[in-house]
Amino acid sequence: MLQRPRRNRKSEVIRQMVQETHISAANLIFPLFIVEGNNQKVEVASMPGMYRYSIDNLLREIESCLKLGLYSFDLFPNVGEELKDKYATESYRDETLYLRAIREVRKNFPEACIVTDVAMDPYSIDGHDGIVEDGVILNDETLEVLGKMALAHAQSGADIIAPSDMMDGRVGYIRNVLDDNGFKNVSIMSYTAKYASAFYGPFRDALNSAPKFGDKKTYQMNPANQQEALIESRLDETEGADFLMVKPALAYLDVIKLLKDNTQLPVAAYNVSGEYAMLKAAVRNGWLNEQRAVTEVLMGIRRAGATAILTYHAKEVLENKWL
Ligand code: PBG
Repeated sequence: MLQRPRRNRKSEVIRQMVQETHISAANLIFPLFIVEGNNQKVEVASMPGMYRYSIDNLLREIESCLKLGLYSFDLFPNVGEELKDKYATESYRDETLYLRAIREVRKNFPEACIVTDVAMDPYSIDGHDGIVEDGVILNDETLEVLGKMALAHAQSGADIIAPSDMMDGRVGYIRNVLDDNGFKNVSIMSYTAKYASAFYGPFRDALNSAPKFGDKKTYQMNPANQQEALIESRLDETEGADFLMVKPALAYLDVIKLLKDNTQLPVAAYNVSGEYAMLKAAVRNGWLNEQRAVTEVLMGIRRAGATAILTYHAKEVLENKWL
């Protein structure tokens, strides 16, 4: 035998010498949930280890992440039912929780990278990502709301706007609104290939944002489709996206790889709430080794081609030195 691949696996030093994929804190974006109030830190039942923070505790949490070298955060608001309406007007009200949170993080931690979520669902009385009329999710009318939301985020100090709504044309629309208002340097991380997935369940628990009727299949993609992701990625590129995101990650590693092979833009992937919940549940039952399972998941997403990984594991992997 001339070829013995096992020779390159014979010691830890050699295994590390030939390791092809690496992940560092710089690749990670940590999603955080926020809620109104003072001194709140309420665990999300379906996401052990993840909490809804009031702004004061959010700042403490971010400070402890910065100390670990984790600098990027994606914020999501839990909005009181009484503040929701058909047009998500709460989303761009000047004193709304979300905008106050962005401003506080910006003021206290100029070095942090703030990613903001643009979509109507946390603020929509219908729990959908767009304006609903007679059971139909309106596309073009929704763009106006998304534009207002994105602008409010930029004015409050966001570094990267991440539209997660899947309306057609929203990247170009938001790009124009930002440019027209002097925010040429605010980036857009588009949820390019976002699938109508079962794996968002725990996130909707965290935000109380589940759709009140129907599903999201008229705007989020069919899990059976791969080529369609290329249509979305071509559109987002021409509309001015700075990052293309695939979501969820684990059941869509082929889509991450496909986009990676077809774009020069950085590809991001969202390791979503249901993926996190599944792993944590198995760990709690003693069925998986947590460190090995978490690092294998993140390595797989990175190996598939994701530069940036949005993951609820971001802090724990650094805290426990798992990478
Ligand atoms: C909503 C949004 C969702 C997630 C991020 N933004 C849920 C949805 O589309 O219903 C899911 C994130 C996760 O599950 O971790 N615009």
